[in-house]
Amino acid sequence: MLGSPRKGGNTEILVDEILRGAKAKGHVTERLRLYDCEILPCLDCRGCKKEASGYTCALSDGMEKIYATLERADLIVFGTPIYWYGPTAKMKLFIDRLRPYIASRKLAGKKGLVVAPSEEGAACCGPLLKMFAMSFDYLGLENAGSLLAQAYEKGDIEKMPGELERAREKGFSL
Ligand SMILES: Cc1cc2nc3c(=O)[nH]c(=O)nc-3n(C[C@H](O)[C@H](O)[C@H](O)COP(=O)(O)O)c2cc1C
Repeated sequence: MLGSPRKGGNTEILVDEILRGAKAKGHVTERLRLYDCEILPCLDCRGCKKEASGYTCALSDGMEKIYATLERADLIVFGTPIYWYGPTAKMKLFIDRLRPYIASRKLAGKKGLVVAPSEEGAACCGPLLKMFAMSFDYLGLENAGSLLAQAYEKGDIEKMPGELERAREKGFSL
């Protein structure tokens, strides 16, 4: 899941390298740009907590396709640049809409991996990593770790072969 508004930005480059590594290992990969999808905000209607709804979301938008993708996956990559020490607004909309999986447990046993470039680098990612770790725990997702990188301008990360190699290796190791 790509949570940056910048096409060809640092998040996308890092996630693509991870996918390249995973493909080299024989895994099938899919990627979605969240900014290309309509994701309405969770309204806390609690419909997804009721058995009658089949533990599904009452809203009708781009999440329908995303839910199907998530349910097919063994591992979900949460790629987001750091915005104010947290995820981008679109990534947060996406995370809020994972609420049906609290009751349905359909993500339980899958793995979650966090990818986050930022201007300041790893030192500023504590709050984001904590938020993901606690949310993964709540959903029953196994934490597959994180890939953090220091990069600011669009595509900066492409000039850092060591970082690209690290991303590829992370993908290969999954
Ligand atoms: C609204 C906004 C808030 C940001 N907040 C932070 C921040 O708190 N800490 C930081 O290190 N970088 C911050 N950045 C910089 C981005 O994390 C950085 O440029 C990143 O490489 C962008 O990734 P992308 O190319 O995938 O979009 C911010 C950028 C924007 C646009």
